[in-house]
Amino acid sequence: SERSLVLVKPDGFARGLTGEVLRRIEAKGYRLVALSVLTASPEMLHRHYAEHEGKPFFEALVEFMSSGPLTAAVIEGERCIEGFRSLAGATDPTLAPPGSIRGDLGRDWGEGVQKNIVHGSDSPESAAREIGIWFPQL
Ligand code: GTP
Ligand code: MG
Repeated sequence: SERSLVLVKPDGFARGLTGEVLRRIEAKGYRLVALSVLTASPEMLHRHYAEHEGKPFFEALVEFMSSGPLTAAVIEGERCIEGFRSLAGATDPTLAPPGSIRGDLGRDWGEGVQKNIVHGSDSPESAAREIGIWFPQL
């Protein structure tokens, strides 16, 4: 089995979409292993988004992601990393297919693609690293 780190980002949290995202994860058949509501520090987000450091959108992304509470979760199930990426849909909610979280619930709010509701780990290595940041007790 496999684990993935999922975030309901501050935009999704503020819109009250945490339950809808968790519902889709559970309906798909994945198990919740850990769940937390918190406001992330810029330091945590610099670690979480280390691969994007130096990119033009990096500072705005950290500011947005630390702007308010979010939900962090660890999910578990065979191939849940790619499974959740499929549930989430493409990074740009305008282009994410209907049926996906971003495609059904997201849109362009005139601020680029940063408000795209969810994050999901993109590889087993990323998942292990990210779970260590958000749930160091696991
Ligand atoms: P995550 O699951 O959040 O990692 O999304 P992703 O894997 O689909 O995208 P990626 O890792 O490439 O980028 C991380 C996050 O940075 C995205 O989800 C967006 O919130 C934001 N982002 C990515 N590219 C851009 C961009 O070109 N402009 C802006 N403003 N934000 C971006
Ligand atoms: Mg990513």
